[in-house]
Amino acid sequence: MNLPKPPLIALAVVLLAYGVESPADEPDVFVKAGVLLDVATGETLSDQIVHVRGDRIEAVGGDIAIPDGANVIDLGDKFVLPGVMDMHTHVVRGLARSYFSGLFQSPHRRLIGGVVNVERTLLAGFTSIRNVGAGDYQDVALRNAIDAGEVPGPRMAVSGPGLGITGGHCDSNTLNHSFAQRSDGVADGPWAIREKVRENVKYGVDLIKFCATGGVFSKGTKLGQRQYTFEEMQAIVDEAHMHGRRVAAHAHGNEGIRFAIRAGVDSIEHASYLDRETIRLAKQHGTALSMDIYNTEYTLSEGEKNGVPEENLDKELQVGTIQRESFRMAVERGANVVFGSDAGIFPHGDNGKQFARMVRFGMTPLEALQAATIRSAALLDWEDRVGRIEPGLYADIIAVDGSPLEDIEVMESVSFVMKGGEVYKTD
Ligand code: ARG
Repeated sequence: MNLPKPPLIALAVVLLAYGVESPADEPDVFVKAGVLLDVATGETLSDQIVHVRGDRIEAVGGDIAIPDGANVIDLGDKFVLPGVMDMHTHVVRGLARSYFSGLFQSPHRRLIGGVVNVERTLLAGFTSIRNVGAGDYQDVALRNAIDAGEVPGPRMAVSGPGLGITGGHCDSNTLNHSFAQRSDGVADGPWAIREKVRENVKYGVDLIKFCATGGVFSKGTKLGQRQYTFEEMQAIVDEAHMHGRRVAAHAHGNEGIRFAIRAGVDSIEHASYLDRETIRLAKQHGTALSMDIYNTEYTLSEGEKNGVPEENLDKELQVGTIQRESFRMAVERGANVVFGSDAGIFPHGDNGKQFARMVRFGMTPLEALQAATIRSAALLDWEDRVGRIEPGLYADIIAVDGSPLEDIEVMESVSFVMKGGEVYKTD
């Protein structure tokens, strides 16, 4: 056995004697909640106290004694719930709204935009997000800076470059061939794909993203067109799962969705063209559906002004209504729908606007909140960390003025944000 050297033992004894190692000395905070929501059951309890110790929740209840002189945060007139989560964002992006601005910005400049975007996202109450697709591992850098406490932002699970076929939705197809434009995640054929997954893992991604169909915001791709063969999709999933990474597949068209589900992906992004059989398949395979049903409105009202080309506006017109019908059908049939907004299409920080649309298209307010908490936590495999206000989990706590169960739009103006025991917003 490798015992610590005597001086180290002595040091440990001294530290313990002075209580440096004792958790009891970590700062305790008592959050008084006017109303506290149990997102799992939908139960609301009034006048609750959340005892936070360090970055974790220590205890929750109505009869917790607050010691004299303790640090108290009074949210006695607020509705308190766990921080919400967005499973589909693109935070690494410049702040300019014009469609082609990314072509003229260096990756470094875009990453600075990312620093601003993650703070806006956090202040909107989103304490955990997935970033699905970023070149140059910019999202890895951002996640690490947030985790190190250098930059305010949500907990991030990041994919790095999204995998895709040459010329597909995950490639860059704007410029003519003499520019040799090509996205970082392009890989064709099972072995090239496996190598790309390994490379992403090597450079620190948490999950793998790939494009299984064409998309709205790419040149020359069709929504209904599948991208990758079944064999290629299986290679992605097998390699990713071998490394303990979950897989998110961008897919609008029905065939691409079915291929991706059968190949074993963990979530379908967009999931626009669903039918009964595809929903049944998703339920059977336990595939989550992350459906971005707010951004249609933003693109249709602001897209032209922002310089979105006609080809892409046309595709948005094709898909918006269908996707919302699919959402309603998926909810009615009990599919596992999580909260994913595709923030980046619309300004970061407006993520919460999607809640009202999820309710308009078939969810109860509680279901919409569950999609953004417990269901998203399960997709991330972070159920032991986030998604509920319970002892042992991170103290990711937000508050709104009024009950979202009665008026879901209050989720668009979150007034208090705590992440990991630290307060980022209060009024
Ligand atoms: N990133 C997606 C794509 O380009 C966005 C789709 C947005 N539209 C929608 N109705 N969800 O395909």
